[in-house]
Amino acid sequence: MTDTNQQIELLRFTTAGSVDDGKSTLIGRLLYDSKSIFEDQMEAVERASASRGDAEVDLALLTDGLRAEREQKITIDVAYRYFATPKRKFIIADTPGHIQYTRNMVTGASTAELAIILIDARNGVLTQSKRHGFLATLLRIPHLVVAINKMDLVDYDQAIYDRIVQDYTDFAHKLNVQGVTYIPVSALRGDNVVDKSDKTPWYDGPTLLHHLENVNVGASLNNVDFRYPVQYVIRPNQDFRGYAGQIASGRIAKGEEVVILPSGLSSKVASIVTADGELDAANVGDSVVLTLEDEIDISRGDMIVRRHNLPQKSNRVDAIICWMSEEPMKPRGAYWVQHTTRLVNGFISELNYKIDVDTMHREPADTLKLNEIARVQLTTTQPLYYDRYQLNRTTGSFVLIDPATNNTVAAGMIRSKSRNVDQLREGEVDTAPLRPKSSNVVWEQEGISLAQREERNGHKAAVLWFTGLSGSGKSTIAKKLERRLFTDGVRTMYLDGDNLRHGLNGDLGFSSAARQENIRRAGELAKLSYAHGNVTLACFISPFTADRRFARGLVADGRFLEIFVKCDLDVVKRRDTKGLYAKAIAGEIDNFTGISSPYEEPDNAELVVETDIQSVDEIVEQIINALKERGILPV
Ligand code: ADX
Repeated sequence: MTDTNQQIELLRFTTAGSVDDGKSTLIGRLLYDSKSIFEDQMEAVERASASRGDAEVDLALLTDGLRAEREQKITIDVAYRYFATPKRKFIIADTPGHIQYTRNMVTGASTAELAIILIDARNGVLTQSKRHGFLATLLRIPHLVVAINKMDLVDYDQAIYDRIVQDYTDFAHKLNVQGVTYIPVSALRGDNVVDKSDKTPWYDGPTLLHHLENVNVGASLNNVDFRYPVQYVIRPNQDFRGYAGQIASGRIAKGEEVVILPSGLSSKVASIVTADGELDAANVGDSVVLTLEDEIDISRGDMIVRRHNLPQKSNRVDAIICWMSEEPMKPRGAYWVQHTTRLVNGFISELNYKIDVDTMHREPADTLKLNEIARVQLTTTQPLYYDRYQLNRTTGSFVLIDPATNNTVAAGMIRSKSRNVDQLREGEVDTAPLRPKSSNVVWEQEGISLAQREERNGHKAAVLWFTGLSGSGKSTIAKKLERRLFTDGVRTMYLDGDNLRHGLNGDLGFSSAARQENIRRAGELAKLSYAHGNVTLACFISPFTADRRFARGLVADGRFLEIFVKCDLDVVKRRDTKGLYAKAIAGEIDNFTGISSPYEEPDNAELVVETDIQSVDEIVEQIINALKERGILPV
């Protein structure tokens, strides 16, 4: 697809709904009211509706009819439907089949920037609606729209709409999602789809199309890390050897030094060829043919990357998978792993737990059934060259194929290299080392149990994880809080990024990888302190969600409190207590959080405190109250 030149005005989205929620009708309505369908198709639909005696034009016929036609000719998992308004172009990943919604969503969502979740107003929030939302966040689709459909069948009752919004908001609270837009619609009657409805005077938000036309796009693309999985080698004659593919992420220019994986050989880009001639540079999403200066043996499945920006490499990865087959997962069964354009053998070496989407709780599991979501460790016979899904939706994902049937049975998102993940019980500590140094290392059980320590202390152990920009006030709050706890006889331990970086973490810089390691060590330390019964105060910028989640996973559920110390970037820049922002802006410090390195705001923090609004004393009080409410401190 060569649409990247128009990225600003192109939105890819996907839809998800349960059976009969009206997905086809909604898409039909969008096409119909925005006048995006061809006249002849419309006439055909009107005729078909009339012959069935329908009073209304059955818009589902439009999508379903075209789909049936299409399915006869081609068998692909997902079809793309295009439409345009004067403001924007749209691509809908239209996923046929109602039942296998997990599979549909996963296959349709890999490039989607928005997901519409349809809820039937008569049914309210069902487990499936939650699953869709959960999947959308797992897939890191940045925008979520909940379209509450069939409002006409509930008399456009505001109370019903409000209840659904409330229910879904309660649920969305547990998800890592930036924001959900709710819209009351009737796809059948056209209310609030393209045109504003006069039946919902109580709703003053946008129509669905208006929202689709105005939502911010492009922000979720990875424009940095150049990844080019080779699809085909093109060799029309002895003089030309080119590598065809689509740029999965990043950008490349003529003359740049590249490395070919897995061989590790290097060369330079000689030319970037497209159907319309040569380019000097190409970007994420562009389909091109690259030629290199040197003759190197490259084949389908190889990946071309920049010399100084390599992906991760491992043959054991930690992943979340969605099971998409009627056939349950075969524990330790052999599957093909399709990763970018490469196919390797692999198997699920561990099934750590499955996730109950209603409660978000982890549950033990021996196998997986259709639509179930689980955390697994995947082992491959050859190493994968990947990025975390969080950073790269293409090189961070894979599908599993059953070699016996050739069916796609699961889609996965890579979190990291394999880790040992355990199901933790209340009061238990994760003792599984990330990288066992030797099989002779065993966990030395403390003679005194955590329960005994807690009983003696008169309070529970916990990790209070303060995250936020440099200068946001993490340490100031934690120190004052610790003083207060100390006075009250609470056992504490204080860990701080700056301090750890003077010793234990003195070897680490500020690249993403170094930060990951910084937080890994800090998390492990916090875990030990927790195991000794302390209320542990940990202050680290910890800008990446995945790293914070790792730290969270080391202690029992309910004992890890993420405290987001929120402060406007402009305010911390102005405060600049250490003078680091000035230096970072002047280019004297690399990878400075908020300036030249991202900060991923937590959306699932137990507490959010705002230092540009609240006083330190107020915040300390707020945290103490939260600790009491959660039974960590006695009331
Ligand atoms: S983290 O990102 O890896 O969690 P950590 O909390 O340990 O960071 O350390 C942050 C402290 O290091 C900051 O308070 C600041 O004083 C200092 N620092 C030096 N260089 C940087 C940088 N590039 N980005 C952020 N902080 C930096």
